[in-house]
Amino acid sequence: MVYTNHAWSQPRKRGMDRITIFLLAATLATVRCGCDANYTRYDFPHGFAFGSGTSAYQWEGAFDEDGKKPSVWDTYVHSRNLDNGDIACDGYHKYKEDVQLMVETGLDAFRFSISWSRLIPNGRGPVNSKGLQFYRNFIHELVTHGEYEGWLNRRIIKDFTAYADVCFREFGNQVKFWTTINEANIFTIGGYDGGGTPPGRCSTCFSGNSSTEPYIVAHNLLLAHASTSRLYKQKYKDTQGGSVGFSIFAIGFRPSTNSKDDEMAVQRFKDFFFAWMLGPLTYGDYPDEMKRTIGTRLPVFTKEESEQVKGSSDFVGVIHYLAASVSDAKSKPFLPGDSRFFADMGVSLTYAGNFTAFEVQSFKLPSSDSKLYEVAPWAMEGVLEYIKQSYGNPPVYILENGKPMKQDLQLQQEDTPRVEFLHAYMGAVLKAVRNGSDTRGYFVWSFMDLYELLSGYKFSFGLYSVNFSHPHRKRSPKLSAHWYSAFLKGKTTFLASQDIMQLCLLHPLPSSFI
Ligand SMILES: *[C@@H]1O[C@H](CO)[C@@H](O)[C@H](O)[C@H]1NC(C)=O
Ligand SMILES: *[C@@H]1O[C@H](CO)[C@@H](O)[C@H](O)[C@H]1NC(C)=O
Ligand SMILES: *[C@@H]1O[C@H](CO)[C@@H](O)[C@H](O)[C@H]1NC(C)=O
Ligand SMILES: *[C@@H]1O[C@H](CO)[C@@H](O)[C@H](O)[C@H]1NC(C)=O
Ligand SMILES: *[C@@H]1O[C@H](CO)[C@@H](O)[C@H](O)[C@H]1NC(C)=O
Repeated sequence: MVYTNHAWSQPRKRGMDRITIFLLAATLATVRCGCDANYTRYDFPHGFAFGSGTSAYQWEGAFDEDGKKPSVWDTYVHSRNLDNGDIACDGYHKYKEDVQLMVETGLDAFRFSISWSRLIPNGRGPVNSKGLQFYRNFIHELVTHGEYEGWLNRRIIKDFTAYADVCFREFGNQVKFWTTINEANIFTIGGYDGGGTPPGRCSTCFSGNSSTEPYIVAHNLLLAHASTSRLYKQKYKDTQGGSVGFSIFAIGFRPSTNSKDDEMAVQRFKDFFFAWMLGPLTYGDYPDEMKRTIGTRLPVFTKEESEQVKGSSDFVGVIHYLAASVSDAKSKPFLPGDSRFFADMGVSLTYAGNFTAFEVQSFKLPSSDSKLYEVAPWAMEGVLEYIKQSYGNPPVYILENGKPMKQDLQLQQEDTPRVEFLHAYMGAVLKAVRNGSDTRGYFVWSFMDLYELLSGYKFSFGLYSVNFSHPHRKRSPKLSAHWYSAFLKGKTTFLASQDIMQLCLLHPLPSSFI
């Protein structure tokens, strides 16, 4: 293919002619047959590769370096005194930069050629060790960049640990609580099973494999966490005295009916949703049920890894919003496009608040505020009891809990349903603590209205509203801010709406600040 490539790229004018011709053809095609010219790469089939290429003679240069002998091209152009590839792009020396460019460009694949007279200078006989080393280096560079794929590659363990090292070193004198991975289970399921959250991989997505990738990613998340936690213990713990935890998205659960099947479904739900991660962190391995169901698709911890992961989390971070009724779905046929993770688990969930799994998973929350996360404090209490009883009562921090409401500045200020929600959930936490749960903290999500991931500005969780049309993004306290502030100052926890209004009058916050 060197010959044709060479011909294309030689005289500049010809290259431009070619581009013109190409554009003309495209225009004619659109006009004449109405072909769809409006597409993105996602219109192409799953796994379709887009790459680019070079060839040895056209890119490498170093035509007589490190034992390379002339190829037919060297001889041909030298004898005719034509432009030559003696140096060309000097890829022989600049391959690392060029691979970086390929990565930045976003190529899926790269095509190149190997110079015969660099690898085996005499055409047959001894291999040129320097030529061999060049191609080994080049291919290594391509593969290590090209096949990285984030959390799917174990290399991320080292890179993540190095990133955490910088955080510990630079901020660890002041910061005493670190969470390595946020919502690890939902990050994995959303990003690699359903594909509804970044990086958007799944079996029916543009790329991905829902039957294997969630389990690989979870494995690497756990190993990266363990490696980071070990680094902290070895290098920082003595001087900085902080702790390193892990966080999961903790859906509250109960069986749909009291049938034996639904009870067993709840057990599987606990295994797949919680023990998938808390099992290794507490006991050094995945639950037996997962091993049995997933078989060889579930990665295996070596003895050494198991010891590193076990006990590597100083606390469990709980992110709790949703409550669900769990039903058995083991005999449901698996259809392409179904969630493989849920099929493996063999359950279906009905969320409290009567919205559908689709609405939850696609973040298309229903339009009525009353349906946005039913107040179900039993779910919070149940999660804390379950963690206490099943994982040796570890320290727990509730890192997120709160209620979304429609983003409407006027309505938002009197967010009584939010106050009721928070009051109920904090009461549930208290109940669990009184019954022995080692829960040590509660964080309302969110302090102010934010850009909510995937749902944008349609819904908000804030104690303070933010006017996103205002040039200074003006903040104003909602009722919930007044209520929480009064609670924090030890005033009261009473709830009746009339009383809350009274509370605001007695303990006013600044009515707005910028
Ligand atoms: C191209 O397709 C997108 C998505 O289907 C659509 O929103 C957009 O209006 C189309 N643009 C043109 C120029 O047809
Ligand atoms: C996913 O991986 C499994 C196991 O390697 C394989 O059998 C299956 O064909 C893959 N599916 C897709 C969509 O690539
Ligand atoms: C739940 O939704 C279904 C279907 O939309 C509806 O028939 C039912 O009345 C709803 N239940 C409640 C308690 O809102
Ligand atoms: C309180 O804790 C005990 C011991 O863990 C447990 O058996 C019991 O079910 C808990 N009570 C509630 C209401 O969860
Ligand atoms: C938000 O800010 C805009 C721009 O200053 C203003 O016109 C609007 O009245 C504000 N909305 C509220 C509810 O204060």
